[in-house]
Amino acid sequence: MQPSVTTLTGMTDTHTQVLSAYPPPAEFAEQANATEEMYREAEADRLAFWATQANRLAWSKPFTEVLDWSEAPFAKWFADGTLNVAYNCVDRHVEAGNGDRVAIHWEGEPVGHSRSITYAELKDEVSQAANTLTDLGLVSGDRVAIYMPMVPEAIVAMLACARLGVMHSVVFAGFSASALKARIDDAQAKMVITTDGQYRRGSAVSLKIGVDEAIEGLGDASPVEHVLVVRRTGIDIPFTEGRDLWWDETVPKASTEHTPEAFDAEHPLFLLYTSGTTGKPKGIMHTSGGYLTQASYTHSVVFDIKPETDVYWCTADIGWVTGHTYIVYGPLSNGVTQVVYEGTPASPNEHRHFEVIEKYGVTIYYTAPTLVRTFMKWGREIAFEHDLSSLRLLGSVGEPINPEAWRWYRLIFGADKTPIVDTWWQTETGAAMISPLPGVTHCKPGSAMRPLPGISAKIVDDEGNDLAPGTDHGEQASGYLVLDKPWPAMLRGIWGDPERFKETYWSRFADQGWYFAGDGARYGKDGEIWILGRIDDVMNVSGHRISTAEVESALVGHSGVAEAAVVGAADEQTGQAICAFVILKSHHAETPHEQMVDELRAEVSREISPIAKPREIHVVPELPKTRSGKIMRRLLRDVAEGRELGDTSTLVDPSVFEAIRAGK
Ligand code: PRX
Repeated sequence: MQPSVTTLTGMTDTHTQVLSAYPPPAEFAEQANATEEMYREAEADRLAFWATQANRLAWSKPFTEVLDWSEAPFAKWFADGTLNVAYNCVDRHVEAGNGDRVAIHWEGEPVGHSRSITYAELKDEVSQAANTLTDLGLVSGDRVAIYMPMVPEAIVAMLACARLGVMHSVVFAGFSASALKARIDDAQAKMVITTDGQYRRGSAVSLKIGVDEAIEGLGDASPVEHVLVVRRTGIDIPFTEGRDLWWDETVPKASTEHTPEAFDAEHPLFLLYTSGTTGKPKGIMHTSGGYLTQASYTHSVVFDIKPETDVYWCTADIGWVTGHTYIVYGPLSNGVTQVVYEGTPASPNEHRHFEVIEKYGVTIYYTAPTLVRTFMKWGREIAFEHDLSSLRLLGSVGEPINPEAWRWYRLIFGADKTPIVDTWWQTETGAAMISPLPGVTHCKPGSAMRPLPGISAKIVDDEGNDLAPGTDHGEQASGYLVLDKPWPAMLRGIWGDPERFKETYWSRFADQGWYFAGDGARYGKDGEIWILGRIDDVMNVSGHRISTAEVESALVGHSGVAEAAVVGAADEQTGQAICAFVILKSHHAETPHEQMVDELRAEVSREISPIAKPREIHVVPELPKTRSGKIMRRLLRDVAEGRELGDTSTLVDPSVFEAIRAGK
């Protein structure tokens, strides 16, 4: 609830406050799942430590070997063990007598749309969906695209796939038809599961039309045999007889009996497309046993899950990896009760998240820094109208959290006493890698602190030499964040492109055999890790990962654009903002720039998603290039961020900037 005024007035951004560490509250430490001992245990015998974590799960056939790294960088974890992921997330809890526990408190975007689903009910629905998918011809190894808003059926669909050994490829419902088409095509998905529409800030908009467009776009080459449609909004949609089926007319009719088959630990579980440094998204491939082990273990220790009493809420969307690991597989494997919310935080007004916390007595809340900054902008008065006293732990993910936002989050949401876990990880890592352990770690606001027990990471220079611990004032040189030992939830490859997998992640430090994460980082004085963000051509906008090349390719897809260069510029609210520089083709020289800019923004939205719309588009006469023809993005970033230009000596024509600045 409302912190005292004295605490509030203490909230200035002075250096001392930035640097002070926050020890875990004694009462939290006493009951915490995580202990300091875990670091020692993992240090002493890393593989034995992971075997212990894996044995938190139910295996149909126990594994005898923990890790096979003989074909590095293609790892095999627990390879001779077999299990069923959906059984571990659902049936197991029912068999243990917890069938009546609520698995999901679902809260729709329109106020009043809500539904609570117990583990027993979830088991029935997942079984019915699995039977339906089997009836429709899906078999282990097939791919299904899931293009849905945050409705319970989306989670049921993912689990039904997992139960059958079918890979799901969840495509964020904010992505365009064109993005969906590329993902269906790449994965050769035999089925798409979708909804008629989705609620967006109070109105119902179609989603199914996008699916039709994607499939039509593939023409005769479309691999899609069926489209299963959940009725969410009731809006009118086109329906293709024979191909399309309503979920509510098929799934509930199927039997609730379904025997889960055991699959090898390395059986593929899902594909999740993410942006890389080229225009083509990569299908990141995850498998079963190792992924579930790390998802479940990290969820338990990082979020201190007490399944009997906690009400956990992760505000991510299932379209991103956070939704996969910390809405579906982590929480459900741990048998906890969670809240799943369909809508945006300001729908119908800025009170919504606080109301949901109050309504369900949320105890653990996990969100993104960009949302914390949005709450800060809306003002603390909104939070003060609500009873947030149920909260006992807060989490952050997706981008570095600035110390000011960290302290605000703890003060306003956490009554200045709840621990905050700032979790660093990636689609590729599958689960959290660097994070405080609540109850153990003395946190520094803005630092993800140190690798979790069992995980090994370090910061190195160009040659791979370890950086030394720094100071707390940021004077320490930054370096490359690398993962120097394999981990259970690591990606097993890029769908259909093993060479790209090696090249993207394993070539920078090939001699040492390390995974390079793409992030820059530095050490603080106690050896804790400060993540500085991406150092490749990947942008991070409100925690969404978008590649510069993807946006550039959407821009040059417009008939009026000759060339485009995109950079991410620092933005107070969204972390980074997309800034584009375009050269128009001569036949568009007379088109008013504003008109072109509007058209181009619409083009990006159509090609990728509204989330990828550039904040600014500058029409320029030329782009800064080196003699070898490479666009110098560093200089464009200087322009976008209004800085003095860095070194321009390698440019063919340094005067190009006067022209760019004049156009800006
Ligand atoms: O730059 C890092 C940033 O997000 C990237 C991974 O993005 P994605 O695969 O979409 O997964 C996001 C959710 C796990 C990383 O390379 N990132 C993620 N978490 C943090 C972070 N940066 C700083 N601090 C974090 N806690």
